[in-house]
Amino acid sequence: MAIIMDGNGRWAVRQGLHRRQGHRHGFGRLPDIIAAGAGLGLSWLSFYCWSTENWNRPVAEQYCVLGLIRRFVREQLPTWQSAGIRFAWAGRRERIGPHLRAELSRAEEATAGNDGLTVCLCVDYGGRVELTNAVREIARESAAGRLDPETSLDEHIQAHLYRPDMPDVDLLIRTSGEQRTSNFLTWQTTYAEMLFPPVLWPDFTPQDLSEAIHTYAERDRRFGALPPIRSTPA
Ligand code: FPP
Repeated sequence: MAIIMDGNGRWAVRQGLHRRQGHRHGFGRLPDIIAAGAGLGLSWLSFYCWSTENWNRPVAEQYCVLGLIRRFVREQLPTWQSAGIRFAWAGRRERIGPHLRAELSRAEEATAGNDGLTVCLCVDYGGRVELTNAVREIARESAAGRLDPETSLDEHIQAHLYRPDMPDVDLLIRTSGEQRTSNFLTWQTTYAEMLFPPVLWPDFTPQDLSEAIHTYAERDRRFGALPPIRSTPA
């Protein structure tokens, strides 16, 4: 499952608060949602925290969100360890400052052996950059004779993503009612079911997560094939 946590700014404005407070409350929702996801038996739960386009936001907001990510990971690490949660980071490494980069890498290394839910924070993530990097790397390896692009190209692409171990997304949720994916997990969501609940992210609850999973369970997933023929009762 993957979540685009949208609506922090609008939530803050409605409460008469600064956007920063909206992001702070947004991060405050994460521990409960992660615990609920683990309790519901999810295997991967990815969160869109900072996109390659979010660098276009004011510098103060960049500092605010990236600082909150760092604090969140540092504070949650002991909880993740005791709950057997594995932490993963998907995104571009180069532009992230050394302190946040070290925090994210440290959490990845510390939890690498855990076998519960994988919590993936997508930080400086963009689906197009991820795919163009993969294609560039494949072209290089192909030119060097280390890889044959004529065989299993989809497997080569998967192997060159930020997290080759991330499974395809079954359910993508974007809160706040906006109905677009904004460059999130482009390769991994090709057959995802999508839900766009109107709730703003700081108001999203474990109950909302549970309801989303029930809605997903009622969807008819065909993957381009025909629906199964239902037998009529005798
Ligand atoms: C899509 O919206 C991208 C996101 C929602 C990720 C960015 C999230 C934050 C900055 C807040 C992080 C907060 C928490 C609680 C982790 P967009 O607004 O970047 O794209 P759009 O312009 O297409 O709507």
